[in-house]
Amino acid sequence: MPSKILIVGACGQIGSELTLALRDIHGNDAVVASDIKSPSSALLSKGPFEVLDATNYDDFKTLVSKHQIDTVYMMAAMLSGTAEKYPEKGWDLNMTSLFNVLNLGKEELISKIFWPSSIAVFGPTTPKVDTPQQTIMEPTTVYGISKQAGERWCAYYNKRYGVDVRSIRYPGLISYKTPPGGGTTDYAIEIFHEALKSKAYTSFLSEDTALPMMYMDDAIHATISIMEAPSDKIKIRSSYNLSGVSFTPEELAQQVKNQIPEFQMNYNPDFRQAIADSWPDSIDDTEARTDWGWTHDFNLEMIVKEMLEGVKSLEEVN
Ligand SMILES: NC(=O)c1ccc[n+]([C@@H]2O[C@H](COP(=O)([O-])OP(=O)(O)OC[C@H]3O[C@@H](n4cnc5c(N)ncnc54)[C@H](O)[C@@H]3O)[C@@H](O)[C@H]2O)c1
Repeated sequence: MPSKILIVGACGQIGSELTLALRDIHGNDAVVASDIKSPSSALLSKGPFEVLDATNYDDFKTLVSKHQIDTVYMMAAMLSGTAEKYPEKGWDLNMTSLFNVLNLGKEELISKIFWPSSIAVFGPTTPKVDTPQQTIMEPTTVYGISKQAGERWCAYYNKRYGVDVRSIRYPGLISYKTPPGGGTTDYAIEIFHEALKSKAYTSFLSEDTALPMMYMDDAIHATISIMEAPSDKIKIRSSYNLSGVSFTPEELAQQVKNQIPEFQMNYNPDFRQAIADSWPDSIDDTEARTDWGWTHDFNLEMIVKEMLEGVKSLEEVN
């Protein structure tokens, strides 16, 4: 039987593009999009869409059975910036939604799960440069604690119950089609909108804050690749390090200036600076490259070019 896929959190920054990419591969009807809110994008309504609260196990189970789902991409979560404002809600959403999908796997109602982790699993005591797959992990944010705990539960459900769950530690993701959802790397998206609108941007991170980042196309490619890989290639069942590019706000501003010479960057760090300071500068993703053949395509120059063109095309449509 062909695979039937459910995306939970499909209206989000990643979920929206993942839904479209999976529909291109499997056909519109084979990919059910779902979210707690209705889609604003007409694109998502090209195929089936269901309203689902991922924290409600009974509704989740009913939906899986109604559409005979075998694969779930669990993209619903509260992101780093927002979770620092609502710690208990962040913990509750991030853990309950994960347990629900893992338990569907344990009950053998679904056969494959994707759940994203993040570079937020690392903390201030982690080696910052070329952070290895296995290292010190003492996250200091609610979001990071939820992702690290989530990784341990994924590994546990795989070992104890044989659940086929696969995961990637996404770096900060850059895209223009759907607005970002309250993360610490959102500055690297806002800058393009403001550069085109007002030729100036005030970054909420300081000029020399290096962070691991990635263009959305690479992230979608990684997500689909790890899910398509034969099960025996997925040797790490917590979550894989994944690396694209690493840059500072100043380096990004310089690249934007190369395209828009009058662009002016200013700095006014806020509470997200402390979150960024606790995260790595760059990531070593040797295991992902060796185990399931991960490679990335987009360097910083390419990202800047694509983002400026993409944001401009959006503004022309609106
Ligand atoms: N975007 C990034 O840079 C990044 C980096 C690392 C990890 N991640 C992880 O990737 C996943 C997706 O991130 P994103 O950037 O697309 O987030 P997002 O905030 O843009 O999207 C999350 C979606 O989940 C939905 N949602 C919230 N509560 C829900 C609930 N109870 N039930 C169902 N849906 C609910 C929201 O409406 C939203 O559409 C998350 O797990 C996030 O932690 C993202």
